[in-house]
Amino acid sequence: MGATVASAAQRRRRWLQLPLLLLAASASARYTPDWESLDSRPLPSWFDEAKFGLFVHWGVYSVPAWGSEWFWWSWQGRHDPQYEAFMQLNYPPGFSYPDFGPQFQASFYDPKRWADLFEESGARYVVLTSKHHEGYTLWPSPTSWNWNSVDVGPHRDLVGELAPFLREKKIHYGLYHSLLEWFHPLYLLDKKNNFTTQNFVKAKILPEMINLVNRYKPDLIWSDGEWEAPDTYWNSTEFLAWLYNDSPVKDQIVVNDRWGKDTGCKHGGFFNCMDKYKPTTLPKRKWEMCTTLDKRSWGYRRNMDSNEVLTDLEIIEELVFVVSLGGNYLLNVGPTKDGIIPPIFEERLRTVGSWLKTNGEGIYASKPWRVQMENTTTTIRFTIKQSDVYVFYSDWPQDGVLRLTSPIPTNRTTVSMLGVPGFLKWSQDSVDQGLFVYLPQPSPAIVKMMVWTLKLEEVK
Ligand SMILES: *[C@@H]1O[C@H](CO)[C@@H](O)[C@H](O)[C@H]1NC(C)=O
Ligand SMILES: *[C@@H]1O[C@H](CO)[C@@H](O)[C@H](O)[C@H]1NC(C)=O
Ligand SMILES: *[C@@H]1O[C@H](CO)[C@@H](O)[C@H](O)[C@H]1NC(C)=O
Ligand SMILES: *[C@@H]1O[C@H](CO)[C@@H](O)[C@H](O)[C@H]1NC(C)=O
Repeated sequence: MGATVASAAQRRRRWLQLPLLLLAASASARYTPDWESLDSRPLPSWFDEAKFGLFVHWGVYSVPAWGSEWFWWSWQGRHDPQYEAFMQLNYPPGFSYPDFGPQFQASFYDPKRWADLFEESGARYVVLTSKHHEGYTLWPSPTSWNWNSVDVGPHRDLVGELAPFLREKKIHYGLYHSLLEWFHPLYLLDKKNNFTTQNFVKAKILPEMINLVNRYKPDLIWSDGEWEAPDTYWNSTEFLAWLYNDSPVKDQIVVNDRWGKDTGCKHGGFFNCMDKYKPTTLPKRKWEMCTTLDKRSWGYRRNMDSNEVLTDLEIIEELVFVVSLGGNYLLNVGPTKDGIIPPIFEERLRTVGSWLKTNGEGIYASKPWRVQMENTTTTIRFTIKQSDVYVFYSDWPQDGVLRLTSPIPTNRTTVSMLGVPGFLKWSQDSVDQGLFVYLPQPSPAIVKMMVWTLKLEEVK
């Protein structure tokens, strides 16, 4: 009897051992909720290859559409007298920020038209603000009762409606999400407790982010609003471990670095560092520069002036600069409360798109070259793809000869200009072994390009 019991227990132990071993094996391939493990995850390659993305700031702030998307904070957090005067002048006494909600109608929101324009711009990913610091969600978040786009305003799932049109065009879908909410009572309570309590994170943030991921299966989460509290308050490492190990997007998901006041430029997926961050030398980690067409705001402003909008040349030069240093360029547009992308933005996007149609070969899926830029007669930038080197310049030399010092040509080198058939004549600089390229006559079509791309190939 005793012996029989013992062997049954042994059998049971043996039986139990197998699944345990399997668990141990898969556990070793899993990420643990600490930065060392999470930072070791290779970034899914689609992100680096994409190079160019569009940012869309849209929310209840698009209703006053004045100042910036920080309207609520400027008015009732910072008590800026200009904002107080604006409210006094334009709205009845007692009008509150949530009263703007019903006026956020998105009446002309046509996600197919958006996606058509985004495709025309050459963007390979789009990042929509699913929720900004005001807390209003553009999807029916189960934890944002009566402060979401289905309960209040358009009565539509703005996040969800865009998804199929982007997917159809193979544009990756990213969702911006603000951790903090300026005036959420649970957030204010935790803040009062110096973030020693997690009421807000538990009741709002974690369920909401998990809902976003499960519901829309985004390719990118662009986190923001992290700066007041440490990552341990936000439980960021726990969330990211779930995202990387067990979520439905674990293979393709890409995230940025805004996961706590101590994580920017240090931890996460790719680095944003600061808004409009632009390094001057080649960074070690994948990075992204986010910037906005309206130089003074990310959200739509009704009183925006055309000279406050980035010019075509500024955009293209910046895109090339960023890509030459291994970055991605995320360019923002702010739609109106009706869901219209202002025509001046639309024009800019179409121009970038037509530039990319000709010159994108040296941009998409390129890598930084051994030399990223050079400064001879004009500013020159480089990228490389396979063994082809691309040279970008935006000043046409008066004598029609572009002088490069970094490339070392051989007798098998050919030089061409993207968008121009045939090869260009070149010669070698006898002094410092540089390359002189004899440019074609600048036809009106060439002049229109603004930034030109040469391709250096080694013929086999
Ligand atoms: C939070 O920190 C401040 C400053 O260190 C301190 O004065 C306050 O008592 C703290 N509050 C709580 C609830 O711990
Ligand atoms: C955050 O993570 C810690 C450690 O795993 C856990 O004890 C805590 O309950 C989590 N907080 C929330 C709000 O999920
Ligand atoms: C390029 O030239 C400008 C003007 O002479 C100078 O300010 C800048 O530092 C130079 N940049 C590089 C990378 O050499
Ligand atoms: C090209 O250069 C190689 C190596 O310098 C040399 O051996 C070869 O003869 C050259 N070919 C021509 C056609 O000049």
